[in-house]
Amino acid sequence: YSLLAHNTFGMDVKAARFIEYKSEEELCAFLSSGGLRLPFLHIGSGSNLLFLSDYPGLILHSAVRGIETVAETGEWIELRAGSGVVWDDFVAYTVERGWYGAENLSLIPGEVGASAVQNIGAYGAEAKDLIVSVDTVEAGTGKKCRFSNAECRYAYRESIFKKELKGQYFVTGVTYRLSKRPVFRLDYGNVRAELEKEGAVPTLANVRRVIISIRKNKLPDPEVMGNAGSFFMNPVIPRSQFERLRGEYPDMPSYPLEGERVKVPAGWLIDRCGWKGKSLGPAAVHDRQALVLVNRGGATGRDVLRLAGEVVRSVQEKFGIAISPEVNVIE
Ligand code: EPU
Repeated sequence: YSLLAHNTFGMDVKAARFIEYKSEEELCAFLSSGGLRLPFLHIGSGSNLLFLSDYPGLILHSAVRGIETVAETGEWIELRAGSGVVWDDFVAYTVERGWYGAENLSLIPGEVGASAVQNIGAYGAEAKDLIVSVDTVEAGTGKKCRFSNAECRYAYRESIFKKELKGQYFVTGVTYRLSKRPVFRLDYGNVRAELEKEGAVPTLANVRRVIISIRKNKLPDPEVMGNAGSFFMNPVIPRSQFERLRGEYPDMPSYPLEGERVKVPAGWLIDRCGWKGKSLGPAAVHDRQALVLVNRGGATGRDVLRLAGEVVRSVQEKFGIAISPEVNVIE
């Protein structure tokens, strides 16, 4: 089964088996009848995956669709979306209806299921700020299980589904709470500046439009050039180390965190190492955002991984900072 259409890096690899289920019940039935054998991998739209070779086992994919209202007050509304709903379709749905909270996450590739596993984030917003609960099915038994937001243990690009419970629960639906009252977050990056440049007042539609245009400008379209968005996470370092580095690099951008820690943009570090636009064989560092590695055509997962290794080494040498992949590398 070809995975070419299931990974945005455009790796031409195959899986031994591929199953797509249309409902939670269908998944429960498959799992409780012992259909799951090792190895297996549950994927979303493949926008955060790097396959190194053919996958010898079963790939599962959710085609559970639909968005429904589950609760509502004058202040907020709760929507439950199927894990197979395209994330940006969900954002568009909320923006069209005048509900606040998801607009900064416009145009992030992927599906609703991954938003809850990966805690997707952009422009000062994260999925965890909206998630009320996550409906899952236990891989080993086919039993349904609902996780509250707190039980998901969210952190930056992190959740229990990526760590302690990795591979043990499959997400079938996510409930989000959106606000009916205007709440905008415009102070991250150049969102406010772009709005002002357009002379546009902040409305849901305007914020969504501006964010889509910023993303389109910086991030390569996987249809044109294979990539998986940010290849690395932004590293978090102790404030003392940051202060030392800032003595040497006064223009180093940073986001202060609690606990005397500072998050620094990996894109800036990689850029400063001179990697922007550079290639290593058919794999390259994107020329408009150094955090993104691209497949210039015909690259294998190993080509991309080799480039990633070189990039990690440079950043370690120059800054003494260890950066690690955000993309899931599948052996
Ligand atoms: N920068 C450079 N050179 C570069 C790239 C960035 O100097 O080549 C500098 C920028 O000038 C800016 C800073 O680094 O001062 C941060 O850059 P940017 O605003 O582009 O954001 P980022 O930290 O690189 C993160 C997310 C993105 C998300 C943006 C916007 C991670 C790993 N990445 O990138 O998420 O869209 O913020 O919020 O946290 C993704 O996860 O796939 C992704 C694209």
